[in-house]
Amino acid sequence: MKLRILAVGRARAGPEAALIAEYQKRLHWPLAIEEVEEKRPLSVAELKAREGALLQAAIDRGAPKGGGRPVLVALDERGKILGSRDFAARLKAWEEQGAPEILFLLGGADGLSLINTIKSIIGVDLNHLTPLPRVGVKGTNGGYCGPAVKPIALHMVAALARNPGVKIPISGIGGISNWRDAAEFIALGSTSVQVCTAVMHHGFRIVEDMIEGLSNFLDEQGMKSVNELRGRAVNAFTEWGELDLNYKVIAKINADTCIGCQKCYTACLDGAHQCIHTAAGPCRAWHGEPDHGQNARLEASPAVLHQPDVFGAKPGVRVPVVDEAECIGCNLCALVCPVDGCITMEEVSAGAPAQTWNDRMKAAE
Ligand SMILES: Cc1cc2nc3c(=O)[nH]c(=O)nc-3n(C[C@H](O)[C@H](O)[C@H](O)COP(=O)(O)O)c2cc1C
Ligand code: SF4
Ligand code: SF4
Repeated sequence: MKLRILAVGRARAGPEAALIAEYQKRLHWPLAIEEVEEKRPLSVAELKAREGALLQAAIDRGAPKGGGRPVLVALDERGKILGSRDFAARLKAWEEQGAPEILFLLGGADGLSLINTIKSIIGVDLNHLTPLPRVGVKGTNGGYCGPAVKPIALHMVAALARNPGVKIPISGIGGISNWRDAAEFIALGSTSVQVCTAVMHHGFRIVEDMIEGLSNFLDEQGMKSVNELRGRAVNAFTEWGELDLNYKVIAKINADTCIGCQKCYTACLDGAHQCIHTAAGPCRAWHGEPDHGQNARLEASPAVLHQPDVFGAKPGVRVPVVDEAECIGCNLCALVCPVDGCITMEEVSAGAPAQTWNDRMKAAE
């Protein structure tokens, strides 16, 4: 007796492929695995029909010559699950009945789920010098999940949603903790979303809050169902070379809510364009000719003691001031500001028509 597995799709190198190879060695019967694949971007219905035809053709191609009827097993997640002992007994019975071949059919995927977790080492136990989590004298990697993986998951979901070859539904997973997260995954092409870490933190009730929040959002947007939201942000993705370089935002500090911590001043000074000025003490921001950050800023010192009204900074007042002509809108100050909404990025006209990096490169050719 021979065993044959006919599967839609391609098994990639990985733990599953290693397991298959291991079982293949241990099996008492010869095992052949044949994979069939349809690469054309067909509709779901066409794809399923085509996969069926490919499987049928593979069955016919490999039909055993000679006597006995092969046994055909179509695997389906709704089918009966056999334990390994029962499965072995079933194979043995088929062999005793004289079946020349047992043929297992594996259909194509009904959907794609991503991204699960990302392999990671969460730290090192510096007393034992082992990776964490430590188990005795050893440690190993774990799977990173929760809010930290959300941007990675969104990027991957969006990449699949943009791929015209992907016709089956996508289920978004990774760091979904509230209705906004769910809405973002849906807007980038997810048909459903899954939640694990947030439920572990807050319990299943969080899902009710998510449904309520999402439902209110859809009402506000005048959308009748999530289907109207699905994929709506997919086409707004483009490569960086296609972004408008003349789109301009600048940082605005709300003096009424600012607590004068100077974090934005330091961040812009050391990490951005030295265009936030302080009058709380010596100011090392850029005081040269406005050049929109084109020249090296080594001359940021000596420090300047601001006179009243230089960029509007008032001596002794700890609210910093943005030199709007020099701000390049990098957003760093808004990210470091500890007061919610105190620094906002506001759109201003650049006074020039839209132009992308790719446009500039073409013009320079
Ligand atoms: C403690 C724990 C156990 C998990 N076990 C499995 C598992 O057995 N199989 C699986 O496919 N994913 C497992 N996952 C991954 C989750 O299903 C989910 O894909 C991942 O945690 C990302 O979603 P999240 O950010 O909402 O947690 C596990 C996650 C956690 C935190
Ligand atoms: S947006 Fe960037 S360049 Fe502009 S003020 Fe903030 S940190 Fe400086
Ligand atoms: S970081 Fe925010 S709160 Fe602190 S000084 Fe800057 S604007 Fe004010």
